[in-house]
Amino acid sequence: MKRVTKSVHEGIPNTLPVIPTMDVVVFPNMIVPLLVLDTKIIRGINQALETEHKHILLLASKKQATSLHSTIGTKDLYTSGTVASIMRLIKIPDGGVKILVQGHSKVSVQAMSTENDLLTAQVTPIKPMTVSNADIATQIKNIKHIVEKMSLNGKGLSPDFHAIIAKMHDAEKIADFILSHLNLSVEKAQALLEIDNFCDFLNEIYMHLSKECDISDMQERIKNQARDSMNQSQKEFYLREQLKAIKKELGEEDHDEVEQFRTKLTELAMSAESKAEVLRQINRLEKTSPDSMEATVLRNYLECVTTLPWGKETTDNLDLTHAREILDADHYGMDEIKERILDFISIKILKKDGYAPILCLYGPPGTGKTSLGVSIARSLGREHFRVSLGGVKDEAEIRGHRRTYVGAMPGRFIQGLRKAQSHNPVIIIDELDKIGVDFRGDPSAAMLEVLDSQQNKTFHDNYLGIPFDLSKCIFIATANSLETISEPLRDRMEIIELSSYTFEEKIQIAQRHLIHKAQRETGLSEYDLQFTDDIIMSLINDYTREAGVRELERIIKKLCSKVTRAIVQNGQVPQFTANILERYLGPRRFSQEGRDKNNQIGICNALAWTSVGGQILKIEAVVMPGKGKLLLTGQLGAVMRESAQAAMSYARSHAQEFSIEQKMFTNYDLHIHVPAGGIPKDGPSAGITMLTSILSALTQRPVNANCAMTGELNLRGNIMPIGGIKEKILAAKRNGFQNVFLPEKNKHDVAGLEKLLEGINLIWVEHANDVLNHVLLPA
Ligand SMILES: Nc1ncnc2c1ncn2[C@@H]1O[C@H](COP(=O)(O)OP(=O)(O)OP(=O)(O)O)[C@@H](O)[C@H]1O
Ligand SMILES: [Mg+2]
Repeated sequence: MKRVTKSVHEGIPNTLPVIPTMDVVVFPNMIVPLLVLDTKIIRGINQALETEHKHILLLASKKQATSLHSTIGTKDLYTSGTVASIMRLIKIPDGGVKILVQGHSKVSVQAMSTENDLLTAQVTPIKPMTVSNADIATQIKNIKHIVEKMSLNGKGLSPDFHAIIAKMHDAEKIADFILSHLNLSVEKAQALLEIDNFCDFLNEIYMHLSKECDISDMQERIKNQARDSMNQSQKEFYLREQLKAIKKELGEEDHDEVEQFRTKLTELAMSAESKAEVLRQINRLEKTSPDSMEATVLRNYLECVTTLPWGKETTDNLDLTHAREILDADHYGMDEIKERILDFISIKILKKDGYAPILCLYGPPGTGKTSLGVSIARSLGREHFRVSLGGVKDEAEIRGHRRTYVGAMPGRFIQGLRKAQSHNPVIIIDELDKIGVDFRGDPSAAMLEVLDSQQNKTFHDNYLGIPFDLSKCIFIATANSLETISEPLRDRMEIIELSSYTFEEKIQIAQRHLIHKAQRETGLSEYDLQFTDDIIMSLINDYTREAGVRELERIIKKLCSKVTRAIVQNGQVPQFTANILERYLGPRRFSQEGRDKNNQIGICNALAWTSVGGQILKIEAVVMPGKGKLLLTGQLGAVMRESAQAAMSYARSHAQEFSIEQKMFTNYDLHIHVPAGGIPKDGPSAGITMLTSILSALTQRPVNANCAMTGELNLRGNIMPIGGIKEKILAAKRNGFQNVFLPEKNKHDVAGLEKLLEGINLIWVEHANDVLNHVLLPA
């Protein structure tokens, strides 16, 4: 293709009147209408009209037009432009003119002048663009392709634009045509104008087109996205409306949940302030979108609040004989606590709103604390639930989470009340002594509010946010020891001790309760099993070692299930004999502790008290050549070691009384050992026993093996009181000791234990000598 280079510069004078153009760059061959208002320019136009070719120079302005009348200096004009001829001129009323010009050829400006009130420029022609054949055809093809794409999208260009281009073949005309339709900024258009290579020129046009194409693609994408999301919500709304209409037609219109909450609220017996608060939450629910997270949280909350037993209570069965019957049917003994419950019922009979007790039952495991709580509820005809606090470290377990947490829940008390559906249940607070503390707060401090009859009228749960009355509940806390329960918490409760069961009590409990229960549970109710006292005694002595009866209950159940199996397999009830016990329950687990019948040197029996009841501890002492050291072994705790040292010092200071030579303390070592060596032991109550062992070893006088003792020793030899008297006497009895030495100051602890004391000789002592004179036999 060859560009026609007809003599474009023919007849172009050196000096031409100038028309500055704003916002547009006129290219050769382009026909453009212009509006001129400036008189100086109009004068130039008039001059040009008088020449043959009516040539003028069009120069684009670098400055953007701010108003129709904005003035431009010569410096603001580009220095290359297009010569054009004026095709038509129309005068407009306010002195301006409208002209139609056609671009001709490019020139560059040498100089400009504004003399004689005329804007003129001296110009030199620019050579027309050089046209090299290379690549023009490909470029035209690319351009046509992109134009087609744009037209098809209906973006940027008019729809018939590509049809016109498709019919054109002349590269120059195509370029001109596109140019006149492109939306170019003045700088870009001017840059295009100044290109002198046709190939580069086409390339530049192509770049512009593709950029425009990209932009319109992107716009389209964004628009589509917006439209899609809008359509989705519109669709949802539309479908919901339809669903509502369909339900209405079917008569299934579900009443607005918000309305439901509102009507429920009016029925609840809660204070006006609480109602206002709940109503506020209902109003909030109404305003939130039903599918939002917040609505779910609010709905759960309202569900919880409206299903709590506000003011709902069960009527108590206020019949004293009935209550007594039920309490006795479930548990043997436990008189103190049973009396306490009967007191409560009596108060209720006389005074409807009498206070509810807060009790704390403490004692060794398996003594029936938890199960008694259940049976109290039964005797009163109240609902009950259990809150186990063992290992609870998070305050929120008691007081609930704030609702801002995801998955927030009310505390255990509110949850329990919701299930119990009554606001006066029996609440069994289990394992109160095993409550923990960590960074999530102090649950035992939170319990103070629950267990205070003054404060729990308005118990505040973080989740509920409104107070709930716990004062009608009967609280029964259980614990194994009181030491780990904080002082203020202890202060809020009536403490009732359940001590270990004696041998006789265990037999009674087994005969009256455990055996029937086990028979019921193993399908043996109909059968008569020969659980004689001897059998039970054997079960207690040979298979269990505990303060309570849990293990005994388990072993009886095990025996019953073996019997059931025998009946199923052989069709007959087996006779209980010692052999059968061994066969069913395995070899005896505990051989009779028994006691050493021989009086020995340096060995003395102490009575100890552990969580599973009383026990016998043998304290052993030996002397051996050495340097006067005291060795202590057998996992003794700090208090026990100190009491050994105190005993040693007492022995040393009273050596003369016992005819012990001083060299015994300098040339010999003394070793005290307390088996079993693997079990940790502690406490001061073995003080007097250690002294006896030490003196026996030093004097080589044997100790009376028929004696057991307990008591703390001070340096003056006084014997101080200790704990666990009942358990210790039980252990002594079990092991066949006839003489038991106990601190005089503990005498009041055995009041009411007359039955237990049968067959045992208690010797109350105040001073070490009272013991030593008795138990140390002549050498
Ligand atoms: N005096 C009793 N009469 C009848 N059954 C009893 C008696 N004491 C305990 N039991 C029975 O012993 C079992 C264990 O009792 P429970 O679980 O109440 O012990 P606990 O004192 O709560 O022990 P822990 O301190 O380990 O929690 C229960 O089945 C209970 O019925
Ligand atoms: Mg318990």
